[in-house]
Amino acid sequence: MPKILIIDDERAIRSTLKEILEFENYAVDEAEDGEKGLQLLSKSKYDVVLCDIKMPGMDGLEVLEKAMELTPDTPFIMISAHGTIDTAVEATKKGAYDFLQKPPDLNRLLVTVRNALDKATLVTETKILKKKISKTYEMVGTSGALGRVKQAIEKVAPTDARVLITGPNGSGKELVARSIHEHSNRSHGPLIEVNCAAIPSELIESELFGHEKGSFTSAVKQRIGKFEQANGGTLFLDEVGDMSLSAQAKVLRALQEHKITRVGGDKDIQVDVRVIAATNKNLLEEIEAKNFREDLYHRLGVILIHVPPLNERREDIPDLVSKFLNDIANDYGNKPKTIASDAMQYLQGLDWRGNVRELRNVVERLVIMSGNEITLEDAKAYARPVVA
Ligand SMILES: Nc1ncnc2c1ncn2[C@@H]1O[C@H](COP(=O)(O)OP(=O)(O)OP(=O)(O)O)[C@@H](O)[C@H]1O
Ligand SMILES: [Mg+2]
Repeated sequence: MPKILIIDDERAIRSTLKEILEFENYAVDEAEDGEKGLQLLSKSKYDVVLCDIKMPGMDGLEVLEKAMELTPDTPFIMISAHGTIDTAVEATKKGAYDFLQKPPDLNRLLVTVRNALDKATLVTETKILKKKISKTYEMVGTSGALGRVKQAIEKVAPTDARVLITGPNGSGKELVARSIHEHSNRSHGPLIEVNCAAIPSELIESELFGHEKGSFTSAVKQRIGKFEQANGGTLFLDEVGDMSLSAQAKVLRALQEHKITRVGGDKDIQVDVRVIAATNKNLLEEIEAKNFREDLYHRLGVILIHVPPLNERREDIPDLVSKFLNDIANDYGNKPKTIASDAMQYLQGLDWRGNVRELRNVVERLVIMSGNEITLEDAKAYARPVVA
């Protein structure tokens, strides 16, 4: 049952509102002044607050201001007598959800309360979702090496600087890219990912820049490329070392001039995109071998972040294992399994050529194969794929 708090100095108004709202199955509390209202707000959670503007002592605006600090997500509906509409407008600027005129019209009251409740539910749901998402993208580990990576992320995220992330397979490059985007001023914009290795070289230009209808045989419709999709946000060029030389030339132009042309188009399109690139190749060697353009390398790598292999930061393994035990239990809807300390030590001593991704797979395998506690025997039996 949704809970509503009424703050009003007039007893008659309070009891009328209360009666109407209780009839609609809301639980209603009353406060006869601002002080009392704030006290109630600090003690329990209300879904909606109805608050009079003109009250002796603390007025409604002051209550609103204080409440916004106390419980910023609780929607406030201000009640204003005739002639205080300006104040009511001011109240909405201060964070009130809506306002009602005195004496309140029954229908409008109920509609406004219902809308406020819907909004509050949406806000909470979004928060829970966001928490869930940022939890799965959380970077765990306390090693110095990972600490330096996290520090670098913190420093570069708020800038628009291009970042080139290097590191072996499964070390966490994509996680770094997501974390930079999430901590940047572009976090409300899109994060668009392109896996340059997975796209055939003759299609990559259309993938990145889009194409006009009819520009080549299979171009039956106009297509918006990833650069345009990422406008206002971040474009993550994954496996950038695998891009063809001709695509590299076009990316270079896009980075230099902040504009692109669709394949088969003649119009320049302005794009506001931050580019983050990642590769597990050694680009300097690729430049030597003439597979990668040196000028593009310098354009992309304004900031270089190297994610070291897991074997060089084994201190991170216990934290990673606990995180994965929790994540996996969450996915399956079970209680997390525990792991014996000798089993953990055993894992810490293994060779992790597949890095964090391999570790996650091993933990998942152990969760499936073991009892409630993962023992050293389990670890020895299942940490490496059994070859028959
Ligand atoms: N520090 C970390 N904390 C938690 N999870 C991590 C961490 N590093 C990597 N992971 C997880 O390990 C997996 C592999 O990471 P990711 O995909 O970022 O690696 P990658 O370097 O991009 O790999 P590839 O080169 O194969 O594309 C993902 O599931 C990721 O969430
Ligand atoms: Mg990756």
